[in-house]
Amino acid sequence: MDGVVRGTGAGSGPSTGVEVSGMDGVTGALGLDADAVVEVLATATLAPSVHNTQPWRFRLGPDLIELHPDPTRRLPATDPDDRELRLACGAALFNLRLALQSRGVRPMVSLLPDSAVAEVRRGGRFPVDEETRALLSAVPARRTNRTPFRDVPVPVAHRQALVRAAERERSWLHVVTDHDQRSRVRGMVARAHRAQADDDGVQAELAAWTGGRPHDGGVPVESAGIRPAPQDEWALRDFRAGERGPGKDFEPDPLVVVLCSFYDGALGGLQAGQALQRVLLTATTLGLSASFLSQPIEVRPVRDELRRALGGMVVPQAVLRIGFGSPVPPTPRRAVRDLLMEPAVR
Ligand SMILES: Cc1cc2nc3c(=O)[nH]c(=O)nc-3n(C[C@H](O)[C@H](O)[C@H](O)COP(=O)(O)O)c2cc1C
Repeated sequence: MDGVVRGTGAGSGPSTGVEVSGMDGVTGALGLDADAVVEVLATATLAPSVHNTQPWRFRLGPDLIELHPDPTRRLPATDPDDRELRLACGAALFNLRLALQSRGVRPMVSLLPDSAVAEVRRGGRFPVDEETRALLSAVPARRTNRTPFRDVPVPVAHRQALVRAAERERSWLHVVTDHDQRSRVRGMVARAHRAQADDDGVQAELAAWTGGRPHDGGVPVESAGIRPAPQDEWALRDFRAGERGPGKDFEPDPLVVVLCSFYDGALGGLQAGQALQRVLLTATTLGLSASFLSQPIEVRPVRDELRRALGGMVVPQAVLRIGFGSPVPPTPRRAVRDLLMEPAVR
């Protein structure tokens, strides 16, 4: 296990002044004790990530929490530019911000300092409000839901709330309502899906992270949804679900949205990742479920085509299907102790 901070027992270490908890050597940070830091980091890890790879690590110092990518969790065939890895890290960062805010800490975030994804310091007191509480309580309730949704349209007010959620995080949520545009986007999902079906590298990564993965990562079979079938209008990724029961089809008309950033590159990706999580948590508070249609983002020529279809000014980062779903089980997460790097000395 790489760079795990080992505990020396409870109390304050005289050399560093950092409080060290008996639990796996997690240190206090940002004025929080070690147990609170464990909870804050555990909340961060409930973010979504492609194939549940959980590509993040943390470094603690007395005055900062750093979020780093975990290069051992890359998916070189599916995500060669680490685009989705950054989205996942951005989503974890949003959870981290929420968890700190709910403890009265105003997070001061620098994106992309040195080798880290983000560095979070204490920016004074945060007066905890209702919205923070609601979003935080949505963190463990949010799940990727690959089962069919009820055939009930998403109300306009809900849609507007999702659009505002993306805007709050300096991103853009394009709602695909126009009939022609919907069929174009549907065609792009189908084409990218077929291209990935013929890509051995992508298929090997999917197989490696599906079903029988160890208990701390991957997409378990209970979360696989229903098996794709030729009549499906939207091609969902095939996580090897069991046989589909007769008459069990997907909803005919889900809400489909494209989350976009205003910049390409790492900064845009991290902003979009935070926006993704705010959108998903807002959806959860509204009783909505979501799943991803990432194939047109992952297949480069199709992503370029999608960008042009949206006018060329914004950068598509994630495609989501949203609706009213039935409950699905949670997916596993790595333990916080396995995500710690050597402590920061700054
Ligand atoms: C950037 C990104 C892309 C994803 N793409 C897909 C996808 O195309 N199909 C899918 O079923 N799930 C997709 N997921 C969902 C992950 O598989 C899911 O987040 C992970 O298994 C953890 O489960 P949870 O979201 O229920 O916590 C994606 C997640 C992220 C962050």
